[in-house]
Amino acid sequence: MTHTNSADKPIGIFDSGIGGLTVANAIHTLLPNERLVYFGDTAHLPYGDKSADAIRFYCLKIGKFLLEQDCKMIVVACNSASTAGYDVLLEFFRNQALFVNVVDPLVEAVVARQFGRVGIIATKATVHSAVYQKQLRRLQPNLEVGALATPLLAPMIEEGFVHNEVSKVVLQTYLNDPALRNMEALMLACTHYPLIRPDIEAYFEWQVEVFDSTRIVAESVQASLEQAGLLRNSPNKASHTFCVSDHTPSFEEATRLFYGEAVELEHHPIWE
Ligand code: DGL
Repeated sequence: MTHTNSADKPIGIFDSGIGGLTVANAIHTLLPNERLVYFGDTAHLPYGDKSADAIRFYCLKIGKFLLEQDCKMIVVACNSASTAGYDVLLEFFRNQALFVNVVDPLVEAVVARQFGRVGIIATKATVHSAVYQKQLRRLQPNLEVGALATPLLAPMIEEGFVHNEVSKVVLQTYLNDPALRNMEALMLACTHYPLIRPDIEAYFEWQVEVFDSTRIVAESVQASLEQAGLLRNSPNKASHTFCVSDHTPSFEEATRLFYGEAVELEHHPIWE
């Protein structure tokens, strides 16, 4: 590495909104010494319906913002941004920080198990990018992959429709899709889906192994920092910072859902 980061600098994490707090929370739990700077691009939510070009443009601006906050690492917590914008982030900024996306750790975890057939559920942007499918097949050419865009799930979860009759019907409709037949494992390739993981596991009567990108990504962050000698060993006294590009009370309210506790969101209108 050519940059001069030190272990005391924060980890930047970004997402299209507050869903990425599931990843932030997993990193905070595994690495409590680290200070986090989170950025949710709530002004452009949802990324799942945006074009790859638009997402790439957002990623560059947010990457620049997090580098200005002196982050030693940038974690792209959003699947839609990881699939559309990760390459361009590396192209522009790879010498200025470490980078972690949510695709590679999840793909590696699944490939390590040598399943015969796996499913993926995600936003339209993630599924249509085919990045997960390509990465999986590159590492395990004989793997059968079925991918399904499930665009209703993220807004449903954001509105608190989890473990109830509405979520049950929506999930049944999606999970019954032929694309997901006969799979041994299912990848939850969206920031929001860890919240409905128990419902998904129950739907498949615990016969399908479910992977999400919380703990797996946190472990990848840990390994990458360790390898670069950038893990912070002393307790972090400063609190984390949570920023959003557009602020509403409902975003504030949703932090409880995704982070496990309410956090205060700072408004950083980087688009103005
Ligand atoms: N964070 C997005 C993802 O993981 C889901 C929400 C959105 O579409 O912006 O793909």
